[in-house]
Amino acid sequence: MDYVLPKLDYDYADLEPHYDAQTVELHHIKHHAGYVVGLNNAVTKLKEARESGDFSLVKHWEKELAFHGAGHELHSLFWKNLRKGSDENKAEGKVLEAIEKSFGSYDSFVNQFSSATATVEGSGWGVLASDADGNLQVFTVENHQKAFIPGYKILLVCDVWEHAYYLKYQNRRAEWIENFFKIINWEEVEKRL
Ligand SMILES: [Fe+2]
Repeated sequence: MDYVLPKLDYDYADLEPHYDAQTVELHHIKHHAGYVVGLNNAVTKLKEARESGDFSLVKHWEKELAFHGAGHELHSLFWKNLRKGSDENKAEGKVLEAIEKSFGSYDSFVNQFSSATATVEGSGWGVLASDADGNLQVFTVENHQKAFIPGYKILLVCDVWEHAYYLKYQNRRAEWIENFFKIINWEEVEKRL
């Protein structure tokens, strides 16, 4: 079965002014769609290798599978993470409790998440994730698939590949992250906690 590009729960312009419609549209139908194509291609090539018994390129296709597969998963989570923004947007209830338990306070979490995500080398993601006991950690993921602890459940992701913010924010990644916080769908985060 082929992987498909998920539909968004909102229109491209709904995240304005924090996230501009043109970037959201290109990000969705060009960049995310590209990972879906890459993932399906890797799956097909690995199926062909099993059928022919020729595994000479298996290392390449396994890497492609991980790269595009992680890209597809993270983008799918990213879109679910977002909603129409407001300056007062903040975690509430169960998520806020878990954040305060793990990071001391909501502001400490925002500071750690923002600083860590701003300093991802090259392309990558800021990630909030939980272990099996509900202890939260912030991770910085390089590309889509490096520097993460297996077993952690991803709750929230912030895309800091340049394609995610450059049209509106250019080199001002920190400003993108600041605005990202205004459009986080915390109810969706709570569902995954
Ligand atoms: Fe992206």
